[in-house]
Amino acid sequence: MEQLMKNFFLFLSKNKFLTKMAKRYGLKFGAARFVAGEAIRQAVDVIKDLNHKGLVVTIDYLGEFVDNEREANEMADNCIDAIKAIGRERLNSQLSLKMTSMGMDISDELVLNNMRRILDAATENGVFVTIDMEDYSRCQKTIEIFKQLKSEYDNIGTVIQAYLYRTEKDMEDLNAYSPNLRLVKGAYKESPEVAFPLKKDVDENYKKIIKMHLLNGNYTAVATHDDSMIEYTKQVVKEHNIPKDQFEFQMLYGIRPERQLELVNEGYKMRVYVPYGTDWYGYFMRRLAERPANVAFVLKGVIGK
Ligand code: FDA
Repeated sequence: MEQLMKNFFLFLSKNKFLTKMAKRYGLKFGAARFVAGEAIRQAVDVIKDLNHKGLVVTIDYLGEFVDNEREANEMADNCIDAIKAIGRERLNSQLSLKMTSMGMDISDELVLNNMRRILDAATENGVFVTIDMEDYSRCQKTIEIFKQLKSEYDNIGTVIQAYLYRTEKDMEDLNAYSPNLRLVKGAYKESPEVAFPLKKDVDENYKKIIKMHLLNGNYTAVATHDDSMIEYTKQVVKEHNIPKDQFEFQMLYGIRPERQLELVNEGYKMRVYVPYGTDWYGYFMRRLAERPANVAFVLKGVIGK
């Protein structure tokens, strides 16, 4: 049943008609629990509050699967506005973004031009940028873009997904770049030809890559809400005397906020991924796919209204 629901929401997340409708009618169905707002000023208020509580942030101007040049350029402009807001308001925040929103599905030239504009603004404002990882069909290309940009800029990292079979090999290959990587389990619907179908195998691979990246001496962001993975990280760090400035934990806005604060109080760096913008639909559907309890929360909100 749980698997069925997961597949259902992941299927819905790619529906272009519903994506358009959602943009038109604003944050609905409890999405505000996971999305900071539709405008940058709302996101700034949320970030200020999180910073005040000792949490650091990565902000994400929501958008994906852009299929025309004008929209890709506008997405990049919005990211630059977010970077300027971080600088102006002195927020403790990085930026996250998706290559399909920058025009990756249109041309290499477009995505690289947009990324260089963003990275120039980010360098000027002292902001670190993370390239999110999307579905498997975009993985190779995203890694190539990351390598190209990493050879030009220092303030860039990307994401590696534990559910893919190719991941260990990618990490070995990327090690030459001493990359700052966010490690995640993986959020998209993938075929068993490319990804571990069983959760226990994904978890095992996740632990493997956390240890590998830390022991290679690279900066490691462990992005999970899973206590057993958090405990595992703490254990590896302790056993191998990894300094606290070589790793951090990350969680999504609206998920386990009390656990986020506990980790801060234990002295760990805890970064919250704060999405905002009108293109919230696909992101929201993936959060529903991850956890049936999120669906119950949403239903309660809808019925209660
Ligand atoms: P998982 O979903 O396996 O849950 C394991 C356990 O964690 C649960 O059994 C429960 O105990 C606990 N738990 C989880 N959610 C909870 C909740 N709401 N309340 C209480 N307990 C809860 N993916 C991707 O493909 N590309 C990307 O770029 C990113 N980026 C990204 C950034 C950040 C900051 C995060 C946190 C995550 C991502 N992801 C991602 C998403 C990621 O791949 C994954 O889908 C989700 O984090 C869910 O997996 P978990 O590791 O949290 O545990």
